[in-house]
Amino acid sequence: MSPDLTSSPFLAACRGEVASRVPVWFMRQAGRSLPEYKAIRGDGSILDAIADADLSTEITLQPVRRYGVDAAILFSDIVVPAWAVGFGIDVVPGIGPMAENPFRSRADLARLRPMDPDADTPFVLQTVRNLVADLEVPLIGFAGAPFTVASYLIEGRPSKNYANTKAMMHSDPQLFADLLENLADLAIVSLRSQIEAGASAMQLFDSWAGALSPAEYATHVLPWSQKVMEGVADLNVPRIHFGVDTGELLPLMSTAGVEVMGVDWRVPLDEARRRIGPGFAVQGNLDPARVFAGWDVAETGTREVLAANGGQPGHIFNLGHGVWPELDPEVLTKVVELVHTEGKTSPDA
Ligand code: CP3
Repeated sequence: MSPDLTSSPFLAACRGEVASRVPVWFMRQAGRSLPEYKAIRGDGSILDAIADADLSTEITLQPVRRYGVDAAILFSDIVVPAWAVGFGIDVVPGIGPMAENPFRSRADLARLRPMDPDADTPFVLQTVRNLVADLEVPLIGFAGAPFTVASYLIEGRPSKNYANTKAMMHSDPQLFADLLENLADLAIVSLRSQIEAGASAMQLFDSWAGALSPAEYATHVLPWSQKVMEGVADLNVPRIHFGVDTGELLPLMSTAGVEVMGVDWRVPLDEARRRIGPGFAVQGNLDPARVFAGWDVAETGTREVLAANGGQPGHIFNLGHGVWPELDPEVLTKVVELVHTEGKTSPDA
């Protein structure tokens, strides 16, 4: 029997309620920073590990056991839907998503057929079902936002300046819009299937949206992220939205239809709340570099993040981006302990 999670600190904080403690989880909490991950992950593409439901279940549980975090995040990747429908993309160890034939013309839309989760990603659904049977904390499902996934399909590899992506956005806005619409549909189908299988919250990762100006974002990207959020609204799970270097975009991103706004480490939480206005929970935002620097620096940083939130209800503690492979898990354990003992929220804050 899976436990009743409605009073979990994580879900309470997502709803903006005072939680029994400030909940904490870490983006990319599973993975190469953990020796137990390296021990079972094997070589080859991460997609092979994701296609193995027993392995993915165990990898998802590892950080929950080790850190005592308040939520699990499904072990999967943002390129899984495009991979599963046969676009032709892989995740190369040490590099990231790579497509031998990048998306360059209208004909490439045919490489993104609609997804049938039962047939195309049965292992994801099995992993979710395994997890919700085992977990005592909520499971977060996720998808890549249309822009961030498009950047991998168009560039064919991780990029610094998104030159091809922005070139298409400005020179063939209709093709760019059709691609993002297609990716929005894939994200909706994938998220709905994860939630229907038992995930109790979702995060839309628009990791690289910070490459855009607010005007570019508003015209070419926001409508499709909004479409994703609307496409899961009836399932009534908290929707978290996050991107890196998005300080200038927070007011826009928060209009996509979200309950929780993820904040990277560049913007203190009080300033982030000022930018997005009332009615949102916030998630973040300790700089991973301050964990890298060791416990003394991480401790000061953790206290600063809690202080910047100022005890306001609706704070989910996290890093300001994902866990780096070189971070010391012992320091992260201490961060969790400190947030749990010192993090308090109050309706009067
Ligand atoms: O623990 C978790 O957060 C759950 C698993 C998870 C992975 N990828 C597993 C993974 C999640 C939530 C993601 C999301 C993801 N994937 C994002 C958004 C989050 C972010 O960091 O901004 C992005 C941009 C990707 C694309 C991607 N996949 C990159 C950039 C990489 C890293 C390349 C590398 O090797 O450094 C991957 C591979 C990947 N996805 C790994 C993991 C644990 C590491 C490589 C491996 O073990 O093979």
